[in-house]
Amino acid sequence: MDPAKLVINDNEYELPVFAGSEDEVAVDIRKLRAQSKVVTYDPGYGNTGSCESSITFIDGEKGILRYRGYSIEELAEKSSFVEVCYLLIHGELPTEVQLDIFKHKLTHHSLLHEDMKKFFEGYPASAHPMSVLSAMVASLAAYYPESDDPSDLDLNVIRLIAKLKTIAAFSYKKSIGHPYVYPRNDLSYTEDFLNMMFAVPAEAYNSPDLLALTLDMLLILHADHEQNCSTSTVRMVGSSGADLFASISAGISALSGPLHGKANQEVIDMLERIQADGGDYNKYIEKAKDKNDPFRLMGFGHRVYKNFDPRAKVIKKTADRVLSELGIRDPLLDIAKHLERVALEDDYFGERKLYPNVDFYSGILYRAMGIPTNMFTVMFAMGRMPGWIAQWIESKKDPDAKIHRPRQIYMGSTERHYRPIEQRG
Ligand code: CMC
Repeated sequence: MDPAKLVINDNEYELPVFAGSEDEVAVDIRKLRAQSKVVTYDPGYGNTGSCESSITFIDGEKGILRYRGYSIEELAEKSSFVEVCYLLIHGELPTEVQLDIFKHKLTHHSLLHEDMKKFFEGYPASAHPMSVLSAMVASLAAYYPESDDPSDLDLNVIRLIAKLKTIAAFSYKKSIGHPYVYPRNDLSYTEDFLNMMFAVPAEAYNSPDLLALTLDMLLILHADHEQNCSTSTVRMVGSSGADLFASISAGISALSGPLHGKANQEVIDMLERIQADGGDYNKYIEKAKDKNDPFRLMGFGHRVYKNFDPRAKVIKKTADRVLSELGIRDPLLDIAKHLERVALEDDYFGERKLYPNVDFYSGILYRAMGIPTNMFTVMFAMGRMPGWIAQWIESKKDPDAKIHRPRQIYMGSTERHYRPIEQRG
């Protein structure tokens, strides 16, 4: 492609231009500062491509999300979370034999080192499970240190996915003072997690398959989302040479923020607040529009989607079906639907292209499974794990990768001199 031309103070600079496989065009500004002493300014990196990636494609204007070329709708309907983990990490769907081996490994590495149980005892019962999750994942590095042998990395990848559900369930059990339930090798990934959480045999659930399959689908929908805040954190921490566990622990911390993964918890808090307040949606729509009010409509808006988040569409449809199959009537689902309708008819949301995102309806499904609200973001982390891992591995193989080190535009004082305290006014 022809180079882009940039004119600054009568000086012209040529910048290389290249296109991705979906025709997204990028201007390569790497040499701009060396040529001109000028840096680009893009707070929040809203228009900065930080890497080349072959993992996930999003077209935010059209509401498209694909993992390795496969649409999220097709994967959510036909695939399984474990298969999607394999796809994201290895780049291709597995053969039957490859999937069996992968599943076997994930099952047989799900136990935690017994010493790690002592860590849970040190946390207060009120600890947010995301803090525990992040700390426990960082601690895995102490048990499974990195080496130069690539097979160690392969094993650590398996350990992370396999042990995450055990860590998540143990942190919940600790918070309610119940004994830990150990992982079982005869259950699927999601069945095993639900069993460790609720300690009842699968057949005792009202609809065991339905719950495990619904959770599986939710994990698929969360499995990757290209260079979002937590994934960029994983890549950034990894760019310093930090190990996989440290990088992913940092990603979990990034996910814990209310503008990112914790929005799913905040949505339920918001819907409960509206319910307790007599169900007056309009009042909350007005609050969200008021620039002097910090209230935002949680589960609405997205940096990339300027159309419906395709994940939200799948979840909304599933929430209706699953709640009806389970015979659950959740008044929060009705409030959410009303709120969505009122918001979508309002010019404020229309002009800003604010639509429901993945977090708007996911909490309703987690509630139906009996998952407590403060565990919702942990569910998001379980789903996002294969994406973080795939992105971390890809960054390690990238010949252009270097330590992440953005520039800034300094706006502080120019040089001044120290004055002794008695001379300061
Ligand atoms: N409620 C009310 N106004 C909003 C909202 C909202 N949820 N989201 C954005 N806006 C307004 C915002 O005030 C701004 O208005 P103006 O142009 O008049 O100043 C405009 O829309 C653009 O917002 P922004 O904050 O510049 O957009 P952003 O791309 O920086 O933020 C976001 C994206 C997701 C952080 C934001 O939409 C938000 O805070 N949403 C609520 C939290 C949420 O649901 N987060 C989950 C995101 S999806 C899951 C994930 O990836 O973690």
